[in-house]
Amino acid sequence: MDMHQQIEKGKQFLVNTYSQVPVVFSHGEGCTLTDVEGRHYLDFVGGIAVNALGYGDRGLTKALSAVLQSGLLHCSNLYYNETAIKAAEAICSLAEMEKVFFCNSGAEANEAALKLARKFGHKSTPIRTEIITMAHSFHGRTYGAVTATGQDKYHQNFDPLPQGFRYARFNDLESVKALITGETCAIMVEPIQGEGGIVPATKEFLQGVKQLCEEHDLLLIYDEVQCGMGRSGRSFAWQLYQVKPDVLTLAKALAGGVPCGAMLVSERAKDVFSPGDHASTFGGNALAMAGVVEMAHRLSSTDLCKEVEEKGVFLRSRLEALIKKYPTQCTAVRGLGLMDGVVLSIPPRALVDACFERGLLVLSAGYDVLRFVPPLVIRVDEIEKAIDIVDEALASLL
Ligand SMILES: Cc1ncc(COP(=O)(O)O)c(C=O)c1O
Repeated sequence: MDMHQQIEKGKQFLVNTYSQVPVVFSHGEGCTLTDVEGRHYLDFVGGIAVNALGYGDRGLTKALSAVLQSGLLHCSNLYYNETAIKAAEAICSLAEMEKVFFCNSGAEANEAALKLARKFGHKSTPIRTEIITMAHSFHGRTYGAVTATGQDKYHQNFDPLPQGFRYARFNDLESVKALITGETCAIMVEPIQGEGGIVPATKEFLQGVKQLCEEHDLLLIYDEVQCGMGRSGRSFAWQLYQVKPDVLTLAKALAGGVPCGAMLVSERAKDVFSPGDHASTFGGNALAMAGVVEMAHRLSSTDLCKEVEEKGVFLRSRLEALIKKYPTQCTAVRGLGLMDGVVLSIPPRALVDACFERGLLVLSAGYDVLRFVPPLVIRVDEIEKAIDIVDEALASLL
């Protein structure tokens, strides 16, 4: 079957939920993906901030292979498994949190956090059930997570949505303050908004939100599904801001590419759930846990974070040069670490497609941002190459 025929089969059998680019990948190495016809693509998407170690990483492959060889791919959470215990200790110490609940995705991690916040609110008299989230946030596609997501386009056609969510403006403390009532139990925020358009929070905003949480006895939830696991240049963005949450949600790069999500809790939130409150059959799956152990090891024992910080500075400096060259098409550069974006005045999709035709994978964020979330192991010469391709692609659209 040639690539075109495979795409037709995909269209026939896969539910039509993605606007898929007409390419079928067969393998990858480092930061390069190869399609079934042998064409190479430099990857600045990284599975949307998932493949932190790129493709074919030796350490990750070895760790995952060891699990397969042990025969214990999965065992129920009714029992302990050795790898899950190791992963729990490793991720809690890396994130400076007390305990972790493992699941399979970002949406699921956020569902756990939302339920935990509601149970926390049920401990007060009268009970408190409202959760404040931010406009332009993104928290996932399940019903709770999509309702927490402060973007109407994700809500349309899916009502009735769960109740009890209020939306404040990101980086606008007064708008958060205005929504707090006797019903509020938690505030949920992405320290760096991803899907909303690569917008870092200001330190003052996070400090202010934290203070409000302390004053009103609210749980502070950070969704670091996209910006966590080294992407910000620290293991977790909260460590960069030095403003600690009560609840932290992770997924994407958490297990280096094996599906995995997690909700971590601090001292204040660690005893909210009790047996029977929440569960996930595959949560803590041994294969995913081996990925978590390897990722935690790489973030804690190597210079990966430092390199991310440095390469991010380099990438943004090259993007700044690009916006000087194309001031009508590109208006600003935003980001932290290797989570960066260029604000465009042209449709991002046209530029994404023009880059694709030239062998570069990039994606959009929000309505007007070209997003760069490459594997954290991207090399400087690969960044140079990517910028040259974006430059060429922009020139082709003039
Ligand atoms: C910040 C954030 N939270 C949650 C999610 C949802 O994660 P998942 O697709 O694994 O459910 C995403 C996905 O893009 C995200 O960026």
